[in-house]
Amino acid sequence: MKKFYITTPLYYVNSAPHIGHSYTNIACDTLARYKRLMGYEVLFVTGTDEHGQKIKDVAESKAMEPKAFVDSVAPIFKDLWKRLDISYDDFIRTTEKRHEDVVKDTLNILYKKGDLYEGEYSGWYCTPCESFWTKAQLVDDLCPDCKRKVEEIKEKNFFFRLSKYQNWLIDYINSHEDFIKPAIRKNEMLSFLKNPLNDLCISRPASRLSWGIDIPFSKDHVTYVWFDALINYISVCGYKDNPEKFKKFWPADIHMIGKDILRPHTVYWPIMLHAIGLEPPMTVFAHGWWKMGGDKMSKSKGNVVDPRDMVSRFGVDAYRFFLLKEVQFGVDGSFSEEALIARINSDLANDLGNLLHRSLTMVEKYFAEFVPERRDLKYSDEITKALIDKACGLDSEIKKGMDSIDFSYGLNSIWDLINMANKFIEQKAPWKLAKGNKQDDLKDMMYDLCEILRMVSIALMPFMPDTSVKMAGQLGLGDIEKRSFSDLKWGLLKPGTKINKGTPLFPRIEVN
Ligand code: MSP
Repeated sequence: MKKFYITTPLYYVNSAPHIGHSYTNIACDTLARYKRLMGYEVLFVTGTDEHGQKIKDVAESKAMEPKAFVDSVAPIFKDLWKRLDISYDDFIRTTEKRHEDVVKDTLNILYKKGDLYEGEYSGWYCTPCESFWTKAQLVDDLCPDCKRKVEEIKEKNFFFRLSKYQNWLIDYINSHEDFIKPAIRKNEMLSFLKNPLNDLCISRPASRLSWGIDIPFSKDHVTYVWFDALINYISVCGYKDNPEKFKKFWPADIHMIGKDILRPHTVYWPIMLHAIGLEPPMTVFAHGWWKMGGDKMSKSKGNVVDPRDMVSRFGVDAYRFFLLKEVQFGVDGSFSEEALIARINSDLANDLGNLLHRSLTMVEKYFAEFVPERRDLKYSDEITKALIDKACGLDSEIKKGMDSIDFSYGLNSIWDLINMANKFIEQKAPWKLAKGNKQDDLKDMMYDLCEILRMVSIALMPFMPDTSVKMAGQLGLGDIEKRSFSDLKWGLLKPGTKINKGTPLFPRIEVN
């Protein structure tokens, strides 16, 4: 059996989950569901990043111990993933023993190899970004990334010899076309690598920060954040405790991330892996950011979108659909409630919802709720032929979209079919066929519509799982659990199937 291992970043637990977290997880869930439907053995992992200064700070501000604080936040993420229908297979927290053990092993291997060394460090530290900067990198004496205050810090720390592997990494990126995607991100990293790499500071003195993982060969230091968190990708798939599982799933097929955490994932991480003798992941895909209008979302601006609020007001599938369809995956998007409502009203209520409801209404009216039988599988006119050809091409169009990690491409191909089917109803005017006693023509076209809806319900399974199940229920399709992408073939719908019309799946949202 072919395998597919996909990961999300581990989210910091210092703030509530927001649109960015939900975006990555919805994208990964869509790919994971698709691969399962294609017969792959899938390992889909998400989790939380729980060490570090800023998490300790937030815990302190709430008068809590860090461990009690992180224990209280991890379930909030799990609860959101449940509400968003995220079908993850494992959830890893960086405070778990299975992870901490692997971090310690990795440190030991690198230390013995001489790839970790102790040195004096002086630099400007940005706590929100958990990053050190040199004086020259600061912009107006502020952090170049988040533009917040930095503090000067001098201390003894451990360093990882990134510089030793710089040429290896450049060669690796150049010779592995799929390693960094999309291409614009690959170029960004290659141009970053034109300058000499600084070795990476991977420790903090325990006296300053106790909320990290103990460094086995130095009681005065802990490690945390990037060096700690990245290792989750191997600890969760059995690197230390399940060699068979590890052999099956590593290297990961996709690490899905946002564009801001590209450097740790495509510079630090492949070098760490290479240094301990493991292969890098096949692909690191960096998606774009959601903005509010043209503005960055931030707590201080008070414009952060809360996925829980969106789901309770608009429904989980409408939210999933909007994020996946509105922009091409990889580029930035502009979020607004108006745009979300416009999509719900046009694509979901008008196009999909109408096609389903009016088709079922006609099956109910003309054929007493039973899908009629087609005369044969020949199509007597060009309109019908074009429609069926389109439906038959759905499988390969979705594959094309998924293989290139372009969700809007897949969804657009489904909507092209839906729109064609709506037009088909207007062109064929079934109400005239019924009046003119053209019973066979009416049967043929009603079968065709139901068959298209069956195929649409399958094609939507990865993107909108709940809608897909509801559609299948209204179409009277049994054995919903057993459906797979191999059912995306024309003519599998059994005549005589009894439909259950039900209510429209996506009522229009009236805006005052
Ligand atoms: N803990 C690190 C990741 C460690 S992975 C081994 C981290 N966590 S985070 O919670 O700050 O960010 C997680 C993800 O959210 C990042 O991939 C980031 O790109 C994404 N987003 C944060 N805001 C976003 C938007 N407004 N839009 C889209 N994604 C954004 O970084």
